[in-house]
Amino acid sequence: MSTPNVRPLAAGNWKMNGSSEMTLSLLKGLTERLKSAGGSLAAEILVCPPFPYLAAAIALVDKDIAVGGQDCHPKASGAHTGDVAAAMLADIGCRYVILGHSERRTDHGESSAEVAAKAAAALVAKLTAIICVGETEAERDRGEALKIVEKQIVESLPPAGSASNLVIAYEPVWAIGTGRTPTSDDVAAVHGHIRKLLRTNLADGGQVRILYGGSVKPANAAELMAIPDVNGALVGGASLKAEDFWAIAEAC
Ligand code: G3P
Repeated sequence: MSTPNVRPLAAGNWKMNGSSEMTLSLLKGLTERLKSAGGSLAAEILVCPPFPYLAAAIALVDKDIAVGGQDCHPKASGAHTGDVAAAMLADIGCRYVILGHSERRTDHGESSAEVAAKAAAALVAKLTAIICVGETEAERDRGEALKIVEKQIVESLPPAGSASNLVIAYEPVWAIGTGRTPTSDDVAAVHGHIRKLLRTNLADGGQVRILYGGSVKPANAAELMAIPDVNGALVGGASLKAEDFWAIAEAC
């Protein structure tokens, strides 16, 4: 549900999907829809393609669609083969970077301390950091969802974070790519808890956008977005089709 003075965000995380052709057709589809809608939606739109397609994506969109990376290195430059610095993302025109996604925490063993260091680098580069948190199914079954999310948030927040450079994405690991979503009450409980933590830790924590992610689709987007303190969506699979992502962006 909308939070006063907070513009919702519809963010598409393409993960390791896409091609030159897909980048072109998807972004053409989104820009045409945006034009027909009069140039902007209530929600801000963000696409996060894999690194090789970022520059092409930036060239294809106008300023009403933001482009972001899916990760960055905590250091500004140096001997880190295969990594990308936050300043490089900013240099080519990215405005956001997703950090601490559960797939990176699992596949690359990223700790919350590393996420905080990456977020600090993102802020120095003037990017907005989208910090992802979420519990596994076993943790939820043990009744530990709030405790896990709280620990991840507290340990992942960079110093100098604020509503203007920070977004939190709550993505229960067991809901990602599974077609399963938590109940509205469960989403409300976690988002409410995150809001409380943000208010405690940041001067303008009441204005930080909190996204929900995990099997968001056109069919469930409106219901999820109506939950208190849900300020947008981080979308995986359904962000790969212009029609579906647009419908979700409208619901945001
Ligand atoms: O970051 C988005 C994500 O992990 C959710 O993926 O495919 O369940 O929408 P999906």
